[in-house]
Amino acid sequence: MKQTITLIQGDGVGPEITSSICKIFDAAHVPITWETVIAGKESFESGISSGVPQATIDSISKNKVALKGPLETPVGHGGKSANVTLRKLFETYANVRHVFEIPGITTPFSGRNIDLVIVRENTEDLYAGIEYSQSEHVKVALKAISVMGSEKICRFAFELAKTEGRPSVHCSTKANILKLTEGLFKNTFETVSLDYPDMPAHHLIIDNCAHQLVVKPEQFDVIVMTNMNGDILSDLASGLVGGLGVAPSANIGDDCAIFEAVHGSAPDIAGKDIANPTALLMSAISMLRYIDLDSHAETIENALMKTLEDKNYTKDIAGACGLTRTDFTQMVIANLGRGPKNWTPRTFKRIKLQKFKPPKTKAKQDCVGVDLFLQSTEVPGIIGKKLETALKPTNFELKFISNRGALVYPEISGSNFDMVDWWRCRIIGTKYLKKSDFPDLITAVDSEFEWVHIEKLYCYDGQPGYSKGQGEN
Ligand code: NAI
Repeated sequence: MKQTITLIQGDGVGPEITSSICKIFDAAHVPITWETVIAGKESFESGISSGVPQATIDSISKNKVALKGPLETPVGHGGKSANVTLRKLFETYANVRHVFEIPGITTPFSGRNIDLVIVRENTEDLYAGIEYSQSEHVKVALKAISVMGSEKICRFAFELAKTEGRPSVHCSTKANILKLTEGLFKNTFETVSLDYPDMPAHHLIIDNCAHQLVVKPEQFDVIVMTNMNGDILSDLASGLVGGLGVAPSANIGDDCAIFEAVHGSAPDIAGKDIANPTALLMSAISMLRYIDLDSHAETIENALMKTLEDKNYTKDIAGACGLTRTDFTQMVIANLGRGPKNWTPRTFKRIKLQKFKPPKTKAKQDCVGVDLFLQSTEVPGIIGKKLETALKPTNFELKFISNRGALVYPEISGSNFDMVDWWRCRIIGTKYLKKSDFPDLITAVDSEFEWVHIEKLYCYDGQPGYSKGQGEN
């Protein structure tokens, strides 16, 4: 029986490149039926704020597998990303991006044996898109990283390395600066690595990872990262082997998988019949392997690699003399049944992870104070003194004030910061805090200041669950 796959054609170049995939699949007699639904621009225009209509959700829930063209997200304004919504709705927590040298495509890195996978956490981090204006001039975004999300993706990375016969796993974070969020990811990676004693596991700071990817990319097999780091570095990695036109990607969850290219809707070339369908075709080939249509995957992959090995390129690779998308697609179809001379495909297997159970809370949790964020155009010396006076009748005292993380009260002599009208005031309880202490705090601060946010400071088994201020030990 033919398997039904949800097809989202997408925006910009999406309808062109998805039509190439459908033509190639038809010619290769792939036994699937497409169920075409919409998401992205068209849905936003018809008033669906998530960019994903219910019919699309229902189709993916039923079919469990989707191929998706790129979806446009308004930049710097407008609605949420429909891509991000889809990844979250179906808990496709693993974004898998294979990066390897392609026969026939020459880059400054050719011959270096680049063959790596970027495993990007796909559901957390800054992509929650939770942002606020905390003054007229200062905006903040929440970077949320969970133990569960980190453990799932780190375990996935090790399992992927095992299944694909890759000899090592790297984790790359910014844990030197973001000690709690990126630090949690790093610590979880190190804990998970203990379950894989035969797999060398290494950590490196993300900026060095970007540098190493360019200087010595062949050293990497699998790199696991939080969402934003993985997003950025996977585009960089695609540039090593031919660019976004040849960069595939898969969003994998426990029950559902959505395959798409790394690239976006490429509005600059939409409708010109010059988009390269290779990235989406490679994603569709890994989709075929995911649904156990391995021989069809191999036939189409061989035809694609033969086409590229023979130096038949679209314009993103060949420049002005490149083929149109239509001609390139025909060329791949003509090569079905043929294969490249210099290409040995890796064996890909579906990864099955056990359902992950959220950890049970067992640490003793105590609230020891608050970080209170307020707006003010006054100087730190005045804010500090006023706050100390306001807090006198309460069970709290001011420890310090910082401006964008830099200590400004008590003042460090010689400091010369450009300050903005947004202050973080660390306020600690002078006694064991009770719930009734907090209304007193708010009343005291409200009388003097425009406060915009309060974050409770918790300790877990006596260990601070918050970042320390500058100069604090
Ligand atoms: P983009 O990836 O669409 O384009 C970047 C550059 O690569 C452009 O010069 C484009 O012409 C070129 N390019 C991309 N795909 C190509 C292909 N198949 N063949 C030849 N050249 C190709 O990135 P951009 O311009 O930053 O984003 C455009 C829109 O796409 C935005 O709305 C963005 O939010 C969205 N986007 C969607 C993604 C998705 O659906 N997964 C991923 C990335 C961006």
